[in-house]
Amino acid sequence: MKPKDALHIIVIGSGYVGLTTGLALSYLGHRVTCVDKNPEIISKLRQWQSPIYETGLEELLKEQSGRIEFADSINSRITEADIAIVAVGTPSKENGDTDLSYVEEAARSIGASMAPDQFLLVVNKSTVPIGTARRVKTVLTEELTKRGVCCHFSVASNPEFLREGAALHDTFFPDRIVVGADEIESVNLLRQMYAPILEQTFIPPKKVVRAERYGFPPLVITSPTSAELIKYTANAYLAMKISFINEFAGIAERVGADIREVARGIGLDNRIGPHFLNAGVGWGGSCFPKDVRSIIYTGAQYGYDMPLVKAALDVNTRQRKTVIEKLQATLKVIRGRTIGVLGLAFKANTDDIRESPAIDVIAGLLEMGARVKVYDPVAMDNYRRFYSRPEVIFVGSVVQAAAEADALVLLTDWDEFRHVDWKETASSMKGNVFIDGRNLLPKDEMTRFGFTYLGIGC
Ligand SMILES: NC(=O)c1ccc[n+]([C@@H]2O[C@H](COP(=O)([O-])OP(=O)(O)OC[C@H]3O[C@@H](n4cnc5c(N)ncnc54)[C@H](O)[C@@H]3O)[C@@H](O)[C@H]2O)c1
Repeated sequence: MKPKDALHIIVIGSGYVGLTTGLALSYLGHRVTCVDKNPEIISKLRQWQSPIYETGLEELLKEQSGRIEFADSINSRITEADIAIVAVGTPSKENGDTDLSYVEEAARSIGASMAPDQFLLVVNKSTVPIGTARRVKTVLTEELTKRGVCCHFSVASNPEFLREGAALHDTFFPDRIVVGADEIESVNLLRQMYAPILEQTFIPPKKVVRAERYGFPPLVITSPTSAELIKYTANAYLAMKISFINEFAGIAERVGADIREVARGIGLDNRIGPHFLNAGVGWGGSCFPKDVRSIIYTGAQYGYDMPLVKAALDVNTRQRKTVIEKLQATLKVIRGRTIGVLGLAFKANTDDIRESPAIDVIAGLLEMGARVKVYDPVAMDNYRRFYSRPEVIFVGSVVQAAAEADALVLLTDWDEFRHVDWKETASSMKGNVFIDGRNLLPKDEMTRFGFTYLGIGC
């Protein structure tokens, strides 16, 4: 597949966003090089193996073999590029501010390698605080001045909205594409890059299905500052919507209502909508927590309090404690109990465990003297590498997690958990408590199988 005007694109950072974007642009016919400073990632990619779990990603990677390049530095490649997309991590600092060191490092490496007289559009796809487009411009200018070379470049903001677990789908079929730029030339270049997506002229890759009613994504053209703020506003709103339903799950439990019925009842109102109204153990992942903290920090820098966003964060922190509170209410004593934890990923269909509720729940259970067995279909390696404590017992199935357990707690909404023989599983346990932290399973059926079943808000 070749767009009319294929571009040469360098993507810096080959994680969930960078790799997905790079592969999609390569599939659409652009000449793409994905760069990552982590040599392990590049070595895997060069063997056409995906370093992350994402639906359809490894298949697309194999399909693109020979068409896309991978490199551990940008070096000479940048001299031929039309666009450099920055998709590196932007983690939180202790104080809630965003750590921009990776973005600045990427900008420096671009400035260090651009050719004299080259024109390059630098695109911030990472989620970055207000003013970062300007900051990247400054860093690039400093670097070029140091080298004494004159290059032409622009910096545009192009925030990413993909959902992990559906990253390819969302890249090919976005709800909108936001471009924040000061110059029309930058907008036009990005319009050219996204043309196959804006015009939907491509046949989707395997496992990526175009919904029947999907039309054409709007191109939203803004100033760089508005584009930067759009991303934070979107994430803060979504986080707040989940915290809102979680707050009402608490009141539903107390008054004897079922939050799932309440959510359906309000979600049918077009002004509210049905999405992000699933009560549970709260939000996590690599975006909502850090982005919510970051916008609160930005507000504070301007002396501007953001009580709604702060409350979303507070409700989420409280929500993570509900699982242990429910275990205490049913088992009474936690010390010495065996608890099977089902799910480590922060949500289904990803191996990402960053800020996953499971991390807090497991830590809390261990503090209270429980024996903890954990199972996740794909996220166990990541948990083992980054968070594990020696006491945690890793098992290979739900059945093994349940064997001789006093209680099971479900923390990730994996589809696999819907298809377990729960009747059989219940009979292998020592106790019968089941805390469904995602309201994934039918309460009546689980009760019939002999579980003392507690959902969130139901
Ligand atoms: N993950 C998501 O669902 C998602 C969605 C929308 C936006 N975002 C934003 O996109 C950005 C990237 O997120 P991610 O989840 O893909 O992160 P990630 O941690 O999966 O990937 C980032 C990659 O960048 C690499 N890197 C860091 N500095 C580099 C440098 N100077 N040169 C080359 N490589 C470098 C790292 O090694 C890492 O592999 C973040 O700002 C995030 O907030 C993420």
